[in-house]
Amino acid sequence: MYDSRIGMVATADGSHFMNMQSFPRLAQAYVVSVILAGISALAICAVGFPIPVHDWMVVIPGLLLSAGASFLRVPVVGFQRANENSVQNSTISLGLVPTFLLLLAFGPFVGSLAGVVTAMIGTMYPKRSFLVQILFSISAVVLSVLAACPVLMLAGVAHPRQTFPPVIAVGGPSVIWQAFATLGAGAIYFFVNTFLVAVAINLTSRTSSWREAGALWRDNYFWMFPGYVAGSAAAALMYVMLPYALLYWHSALALATLVLPVPFLIYYSARYHRDRDVNHRSYIAELERGREELRGLYTATVESFALAIDAKDRYTQEHIQRVKSYAMDLAREMELSGMDLKAVEYGALLHDIGKIAIPESILCKPGKLTPDEFEKMKTHTIIGAKILEPVRFPFPVVDVVRSHHERYDGSGYPDGLKGDEIPIGARILAVTDVYDALTTDRAYRRAWSRNETMLYLQKHMGSHFDPHVVSAFLRILRQEDERTAAMINGPMARIDGASASVG
Ligand SMILES: [Fe+2]
Repeated sequence: MYDSRIGMVATADGSHFMNMQSFPRLAQAYVVSVILAGISALAICAVGFPIPVHDWMVVIPGLLLSAGASFLRVPVVGFQRANENSVQNSTISLGLVPTFLLLLAFGPFVGSLAGVVTAMIGTMYPKRSFLVQILFSISAVVLSVLAACPVLMLAGVAHPRQTFPPVIAVGGPSVIWQAFATLGAGAIYFFVNTFLVAVAINLTSRTSSWREAGALWRDNYFWMFPGYVAGSAAAALMYVMLPYALLYWHSALALATLVLPVPFLIYYSARYHRDRDVNHRSYIAELERGREELRGLYTATVESFALAIDAKDRYTQEHIQRVKSYAMDLAREMELSGMDLKAVEYGALLHDIGKIAIPESILCKPGKLTPDEFEKMKTHTIIGAKILEPVRFPFPVVDVVRSHHERYDGSGYPDGLKGDEIPIGARILAVTDVYDALTTDRAYRRAWSRNETMLYLQKHMGSHFDPHVVSAFLRILRQEDERTAAMINGPMARIDGASASVG
């Protein structure tokens, strides 16, 4: 089940492995080292573990079987890469099974040869890769097979020059170790192979960090791990069954007839679930995209409303954006979060939306309003709430808009709410709205200074404003002052220090 595209999966864009000269020095050295190590290891195996002539009679058909199995690709359940909404349809080839079978039966050299065959098919079919990629892929497979070998040899399998077919000796404690060793060898094969490829990709791509390499390995290869272990287990099972099959071939044939439908059943079941899963994931991704678009549209609509209010009330241009900025800082300072924070944000943008219904003669009047005009002006809170009610915001923004002119002592409008009866968002807005109004120029008066306004807020704590809210706001303003002072004094202090040390 060796994935024939290993070394290509992450290089599908063709940007790596094309031209050795374009690689960074370290990547060139690495790729050449792996290729040399793989070819040398294969040569050493050929000399160290020669195959008797009569074994070639089995090895050659076995290698052809490996080649054939490498063309067979089994679709696996679609998986989703990190940070991507699309679902990948993936296949893995069956080449690992005969490779492991030959490794168990004839030892390291034949196992490596089978690996070479599967790697060659994998890198040349369906699309031919570059020569350096083919060589690297072959070498990585040889090194992976040989890395898996010691575990098998220690457990008493995969011995060079062992008899073929194996003697029927199923039993004893060693069989359990051999089974574990086979699964372990499958895991080692997988890790060594994917590690060698992931390092190559990371070194050839100049921008990626080791952290990105880890993520790439996890996204592209880790999902194949169970397939590798299952492939090695299937090979071991076939290897154990082989002598029985030869001895009792009638029964083996009967058994095969009964067993054959099982893989088909598994295959079609997997395909059905994959298709369903892929459809489901696509549907979820589609929904997510739609939700994002809707959220963007929602915010844009609200901001357009805010702009419309700004445009009508020409004496308070940009007032709304500034109030929003102050209100959000203040809400965070007061540790508001989630829906309450959202209510403050949208409340700050929309709090004066009711002014749309107030005549411009009142809104833009340079002097003081008459009592009647003031009564008319007061209605903007109720009208604003009425405009927003049908929108059904998922956070309590309507209450914030309605109550932003309430006073802490109950003397405000429109409902005369008192203390904590006033929504926290409205208490925050009351402070920031007044602060911004006083610190900006109006037709009928000059802007107040920051200190004057701070004193005003302090003076009206408990009457107009919530004392906790004012304290938090004054804290923010003082921190701002300290930061500004540090910026102004910082360079001076450094100059002073420098002159002191010189002097
Ligand atoms: Fe208002």
